[in-house]
Amino acid sequence: MLTDEILKKLSEGGYVSGEYLASELSVSRNAVWKAVNKLRSEGYVIDSCTNKGYILSDKPDVITKENICGYLKDKKNEYGFIILSEIDSTNRAALDEAAKGAVSGTVVIADTQTKGRGRLGRSFYSPSGSGIYMSVVLRPQIDLKLLPLVTAATGVAVANAVDKVAGVNCKIKWVNDIFLGGRKLCGILSQANIDMETGKAEAVVVGIGINVGLKSYSPELANIAVNLEEYTGKKFERSRIIAEVLNNMCDIEKQIISRSFIKEYRRRSNVIGSEVTVYTANGDYNAFAEDIDSDAKLIVKMPDGTVKKLDSGEVSVRTAKVEKDEK
Ligand code: BTN
Repeated sequence: MLTDEILKKLSEGGYVSGEYLASELSVSRNAVWKAVNKLRSEGYVIDSCTNKGYILSDKPDVITKENICGYLKDKKNEYGFIILSEIDSTNRAALDEAAKGAVSGTVVIADTQTKGRGRLGRSFYSPSGSGIYMSVVLRPQIDLKLLPLVTAATGVAVANAVDKVAGVNCKIKWVNDIFLGGRKLCGILSQANIDMETGKAEAVVVGIGINVGLKSYSPELANIAVNLEEYTGKKFERSRIIAEVLNNMCDIEKQIISRSFIKEYRRRSNVIGSEVTVYTANGDYNAFAEDIDSDAKLIVKMPDGTVKKLDSGEVSVRTAKVEKDEK
């Protein structure tokens, strides 16, 4: 396509004249001008100067397989990518792919979701060009009762990736929210295809939604969400963050079996040592969050002194104090 060829020439840097582009690509000056305008409409900032020509000043942050693979540490990795501009939900699509036989390591990514899924039946606001919406198909050979650890280990993988790329210090709010500066940066939703006969998970889909440069939030998130670019004042390439998350997830099954991520999961917790409100289907209560055990269960002490272990499936918690972290 002419736009691709022009982009290639402009990406080499510096000014390139319309005359040169037209003669190199054997098209008219008018065709060059039209193609440049098309690129501008796609978000490329192309400045022009009389006697000098065109210069590429900025490009949109497009998620591509090539960009992601460029940042993967194992170039012979086993990830397979399905990258879409729009989908209802990457988790829905990944579950369908898994049901059709997609192998472990299949990753579905979309620039925007029209029906992004959140935890506890909520929706997940997913505007275009500014977030990461990705779902990873896993086929871990683990017992069903270890499945909550997939979400917890993914939380650590995301927090480590964001810290590395952005130089921040993410916290994890039990069980699976990533927080920055006391506000939510990322949510994780794991869903599974269960084989009813064997009682085993045929496939687990881990969905990750990260606010990279979101300009607006859904009303319910407006006061509790943050985005990485606003927090740091810097711009980030979404493909790089995606790759770092995948780098950290490549041996996730091993991490789960050995519990090697638990220490870091605890270290990043902004809940341990706080008064929390526990929300359950049978009512809410206050308790003190003492610790997280090796199965990622939250250990809470009730006002009467009894101790309970909370399972991620049953409850959600809110801390009373403002969570703190550092840049
Ligand atoms: C939550 O915080 O409630 C979990 C949000 C999970 C959102 C991600 S975005 C990618 C994937 N696809 C979905 O439909 N949801 C998850």
